[in-house]
Amino acid sequence: MTNLPKGCGAVSDGADTNAKNKPMQILTNDTRTLIVYFSRSGNTEAQATFAQETLTADMVELVVESPYPANYRASVERATAEREPEEWPAIITKNLPDFSKYDNILLGHPIWAMTIANPMRQFLETVGDQLAGKTVTSFSTNAGYGNGDTQMVLQALLPKSAKILPGYTIHDTKLESTRDQFKNWLLRLPID
Ligand SMILES: Cc1cc2nc3c(=O)[nH]c(=O)nc-3n(C[C@H](O)[C@H](O)[C@H](O)COP(=O)(O)O)c2cc1C
Repeated sequence: MTNLPKGCGAVSDGADTNAKNKPMQILTNDTRTLIVYFSRSGNTEAQATFAQETLTADMVELVVESPYPANYRASVERATAEREPEEWPAIITKNLPDFSKYDNILLGHPIWAMTIANPMRQFLETVGDQLAGKTVTSFSTNAGYGNGDTQMVLQALLPKSAKILPGYTIHDTKLESTRDQFKNWLLRLPID
């Protein structure tokens, strides 16, 4: 987690949006653990990358069909306009892996309006049923207000047969200084 983007924090400049970057994808046949993450301004991407290295997991980045603006306020406006009518943003699903290859799924996402960021919400709404029977947990970054209703949303949207573990969240400005804590959480997850 060394090369954190300059735009860390709630007033991120969004320099690391998916607008231009190629989506991250590390898919092998060597692990039963998959990380699926969305990151607008790079904080959760740094967190996900660290998790991938720590667990030697597979990893795929969620990409929205229409990327969020780099401008923070414009992104908040768009996110609100999506959230209030629950018109979640379309995500590109063609590059998602075959979930049957995995037993454990870690979902990485920012906290938006005290809940799971809209693209991850859309993932849960549209692909969540493919996580039946799996062990699922979430890690997130926030700007100081915690995890919101993340656990409740996971409980509500994932199939009953999914085993949902307590999640992890961190204030984005503390990503680097708390990486040992995150590493401990990752290594203590009851997953093989
Ligand atoms: C649309 C939007 C809404 C946000 N809402 C919250 C919030 O309710 N609580 C909070 O602590 N941080 C909030 N944030 C800040 C982000 O959670 C935080 O900066 C996070 O690290 C961004 O992750 P990313 O760089 O992976 O996109 C919000 C950011 C955006 C863009």
